[in-house]
Amino acid sequence: MHGDLPVGPDTASRTNRRNGLFCTRGSEACPGLTVKALSKSYIPALRYHWLTRFYDPIVRLTTRESTFKEALLGQAKIQAGYRVLDLGCGTGTLATMVKRSHPSAEVFGLDADLETLKLARAKMVRAGFALQLDQGFASALPYATASFDRVLSSPFVHHLSDQLKDQAMLEVCRVLRPGGEFHIAEWGRPTSSAMRIAFYGIQMLDGFATTRDSVMGVFPELLSLAGFETVELTGNYSTLLGTLSLYRAGKPSP
Ligand SMILES: C[S@@+](CC[C@H](N)C(=O)[O-])C[C@H]1O[C@@H](n2cnc3c(N)ncnc32)[C@H](O)[C@@H]1O
Repeated sequence: MHGDLPVGPDTASRTNRRNGLFCTRGSEACPGLTVKALSKSYIPALRYHWLTRFYDPIVRLTTRESTFKEALLGQAKIQAGYRVLDLGCGTGTLATMVKRSHPSAEVFGLDADLETLKLARAKMVRAGFALQLDQGFASALPYATASFDRVLSSPFVHHLSDQLKDQAMLEVCRVLRPGGEFHIAEWGRPTSSAMRIAFYGIQMLDGFATTRDSVMGVFPELLSLAGFETVELTGNYSTLLGTLSLYRAGKPSP
């Protein structure tokens, strides 16, 4: 699996340098999920598929997960009937929180990895919620233009190459309605030397190339370049694995 050379939007030179980091996944049937034939590549939740089963407890113990996800949810100001996308939803913790706090919202979760989506589906069934979980790529979202009121993402963007980050942000801007908002929790510029050192753990796991933007704190600039306005850093959270930053970005109204 990990020896497969990825295809898709990543350049050949980068994928060759990073051979072994990316995975290609075939698709298989899974009730309750929409599954598309995949030929692209992605970095799984904890880089290696065999670690995915440990993802939830590790994140819970190391990232102050409920604190920063509650804050993200709070700043998103979701209203009754909103269509909300959790981009790179992984095991569906944030999507489930959205549905729990806003039962009338129509909640979607999208992730490239079928294994994490299966865990998300199990979580959703345990909670008794109906969410739509879709297998797909952030760089080519399978949704109509202007079809969401909010897009949320929690530590996901650092899994994307520079090119994929740009494409994903353009795609988020496309699927949001005018006046819609993108709310992001992501590894950000370290707020202290201790936070910088702590973040080496994430960089060694997920790779230095995709996580460099976090250290440089360039997400506001990338969001502005993708067409968002009123881009702001709304908070920083010190965690065992580095600084988690929250951002808000609005799609311009007509
Ligand atoms: C660190 S996990 C975050 C999961 C979840 N948002 C959370 O807060 O726990 C990153 C997720 O991004 C997914 N991913 C990586 N590249 C992707 C891509 N190009 N498109 C969609 N999902 C992707 C991975 O499969 C993984 O589940």
